Amino acid sequence: MDTPSHLLKPLTLPCGVTVSNRLLKSAMSEGFAHKDHAPNALHEQLYQTFAEGGTGIVITGNVMIDSTALGEPGNVVIEDDRHMTALKRWAKAGQTKESALWVQLNHPGKQAPRFITNDPVAPSAIPLEGTMKRAFKTPRALTDEEIKALVKRFATSAKIVKDAGFSGVQIHAAHGYLMSQFLSPKHNQREAPYGGDLKNRMRFLIEVYEAMREAVGDTFPIGVKMNIDDFIDGGFSKEDANVVMRVLSERGIDLIELSGGSYETPVMMGQSNKEGFFLDSLTAMDQTILAPRVITGGFRSKVVMESVIEKSSAEMIGLARPLVINPDLVNHIQVGSFESMSLPRIRFGVKRLDRKLGPIVGLSAYELAMKRLAKGKTVKISTCGWRVLGHVLIAQGVKAFIRRRPAKHPTR
Ligand SMILES: Cc1cc2nc3c(=O)[nH]c(=O)nc-3n(C[C@H](O)[C@H](O)[C@H](O)COP(=O)(O)O)c2cc1C
Repeated sequence: MDTPSHLLKPLTLPCGVTVSNRLLKSAMSEGFAHKDHAPNALHEQLYQTFAEGGTGIVITGNVMIDSTALGEPGNVVIEDDRHMTALKRWAKAGQTKESALWVQLNHPGKQAPRFITNDPVAPSAIPLEGTMKRAFKTPRALTDEEIKALVKRFATSAKIVKDAGFSGVQIHAAHGYLMSQFLSPKHNQREAPYGGDLKNRMRFLIEVYEAMREAVGDTFPIGVKMNIDDFIDGGFSKEDANVVMRVLSERGIDLIELSGGSYETPVMMGQSNKEGFFLDSLTAMDQTILAPRVITGGFRSKVVMESVIEKSSAEMIGLARPLVINPDLVNHIQVGSFESMSLPRIRFGVKRLDRKLGPIVGLSAYELAMKRLAKGKTVKISTCGWRVLGHVLIAQGVKAFIRRRPAKHPTR
């Protein structure tokens, strides 16, 4: 008899909750919410589809903790219990015995495009650099009082997530958003108590974690998504990541998802065809840290995912785009009918357009595909940039492209 796949072994988290297998659906912003920022029937159907696919943990797209600080239009916002009925419906639709549904909570900080906000905030008033900079205003520095108020907001949102019946919560501290800005010595040039050395730069994250723990109790899973490295000069480093992971682990975090980059260096979406974008960085990680780790980005084959788990380089594998193309991927692993896949390369066939619009269209293709899944339709991602562009314009109108990240490297 074949030995069962390492990917299908259950995992017990520090809080005592057992996850049915080692696959995690990484957060992908859906953009389905209307002006009220409540989840709706599209969220319910999409997450029912993901749950039925058998993935151990499914993470929602980033949900904002403050309706005045959106990362993108169409975000769900949880800031009080006004959407409790809709949240309960979403939580119920997206869970099965095999598949848990966690909510990713986020604040964009300075990575809130200028068409959404007039008053972006950050640890320090330092503008975003890189090819996307024109889409973002220079932020103002938060006051210490405002930071304390944000800590409370994260805790309030986490409690609502629990009360609505979701199975866990994830703090988004990766990809250059507010929490990641605080961790970065490049973006955080405050003084104590929330800036300076790493102990102070991680204070916001640790206070958010502790306030959430207080709000949800010891047996409800809390995870974090953080960068293994910012991959930028003067940014958050691998050494910093080891320290933050150790502190969170000692305080009882249940799961640490590792990714990398930001809008300034969008390595989280992959820059080469190499499988496992951050596997090399993983070798620099302190292996004595006890909290279970998820490594996300660029996994496409069972054999590579299995070797990561088998060698205990990480306890779980995070998948995003592959699960849009094949939400049943984990069921296929169960019955031995999945070996590997590749993502379609979406191209215009015109070099300049491919360079300028390629990544935006690439991201749009997955957003469109999630909408098809949410409508109970099958998904086929077109490799023709013109076709994707046409579909976006038909589905969302001309404003979609103005409202989307109007820059070279769209990421979250
Ligand atoms: C359409 C789309 C939306 C995304 N939204 C989020 C998000 O809300 N939060 C987040 O942490 N990462 C987000 N990501 C990044 C993914 O979680 C993941 O880190 C990245 O896609 C690499 O994994 P993959 O190679 O398996 O797709 C998004 C990615 C895509 C394609």
